[in-house]
Amino acid sequence: MRHFDYQSGDLHAEQVPLSRIAAEVGTPVYVYSSATLERHYRVFADSFEGLDTLVAYSVKANSNIAVLQTLAQLGAGADVVSGGELARALIAGIPGERIVFSGVGKTRAEMSAALDANIHVFNVESLPELHALNAVALSKGVQAPVAFRVNPDVSAGGHEKISTGKKENKFGIGWSRAEAAYAEAAALPGIEIVGVDVHIGSQIDALAPFEAAIRKVVGLIGRLRDQGHRIHLFDIGGGLGIPYGGNSRTPPLPADYGALVRRLTRDLDVQMVFEPGRMIAGNSGVLLSEVLYVKEGEDRHFLIIDAAMNDLLRPALYDAWHDVEPVHAPSPDAASQAYDIVGPICESGDTFAKARDLPPLSAGDLIVFHSAGAYGAAQSSQYNTRPLVPEVMVRGDAYRVIRERPTIADMLKTERLPDWPD
Ligand code: LLP
Repeated sequence: MRHFDYQSGDLHAEQVPLSRIAAEVGTPVYVYSSATLERHYRVFADSFEGLDTLVAYSVKANSNIAVLQTLAQLGAGADVVSGGELARALIAGIPGERIVFSGVGKTRAEMSAALDANIHVFNVESLPELHALNAVALSKGVQAPVAFRVNPDVSAGGHEKISTGKKENKFGIGWSRAEAAYAEAAALPGIEIVGVDVHIGSQIDALAPFEAAIRKVVGLIGRLRDQGHRIHLFDIGGGLGIPYGGNSRTPPLPADYGALVRRLTRDLDVQMVFEPGRMIAGNSGVLLSEVLYVKEGEDRHFLIIDAAMNDLLRPALYDAWHDVEPVHAPSPDAASQAYDIVGPICESGDTFAKARDLPPLSAGDLIVFHSAGAYGAAQSSQYNTRPLVPEVMVRGDAYRVIRERPTIADMLKTERLPDWPD
């Protein structure tokens, strides 16, 4: 359920017309609905009601501090993958005890900052990383709480660039090496083993891969306990898909995912940690853009818009589908037209959609890309020296700019003309 609807012929975010945001903030602009964000968090968290859980929102999906604060106020924790994300989570009011730290390449400085913040758990992905963490913890006279991210060798569908749970992927400790890794960790004085972690991929549209991974980890937890390890946390990562429209499959409902987790982890006596990103933020945001030109090609109509691949990378990188709608509702008898929707960047990959049926549009019209709240602004760049897209959050009939559009001077202020010696 998302709060982007036509009211009196104009697409609104909650009670705010998108045309008003376009006029006052300019385009392109990301617009988030706080009501949708809150609803998605609650639907997800409620599906585990009664279980000992930590819902650690995956910050990488949308890391704006206003988004994090909105979720923090509902009790969310955070899954972070860098010192920068850790800082964002802390600034947004998420306490260290609700933060988990994932990622294959944590630096010693990041480990140190996370230990200072007293985080809940480090998801460790290799033995060299384990030894580095042990050394950093010992230098501070503390123990680092650790779950190994194990790689269950489960195929989770989705796009190959976001599938992570197969043994050929770079993630996690290989399944056959997991028990030896725990034995090695148990001997390190700076490490406290607390649990097991997996994350098998993203935009997963079926329950079967989750079921396969959970079953394998439940078996592993039993063996680890038999070997004397105290395992009281099971982090099953993120990955639950969202409906994007087009011909994508409808993903499982959070309630069905919750029921699966409950059934498979009954009597396991662990805290369940979840790292949802897309499921919380994805359908809470749109990218709002203006049509610059309608160009008639040899055999197609191009809609040249003011957003580009640097603003929303998903179509270029993953051939991702985002539903597109005009901001002004079309008249019911308007015949649709097939458009290639493209941005201003000098790359053919700067294409959002091909042969997309839309009502007839002209220069100055506004359109939105739906489901752009996750991995949208977070993956934006300044390629072509285009300013980072601003972000706006709506609450009821009010909105606030939560990331400003930088000026050209802002963008250049960290660059230097070198003053070489003669
Ligand atoms: N936990 C870990 C360890 C992850 O690597 C990820 C996502 C998540 C949680 C959150 O997954 P989610 O619930 O959002 O599926 N840029 C791509 C998605 C990359 C996902 C990377 N890891 C996209 O736009 O589709």
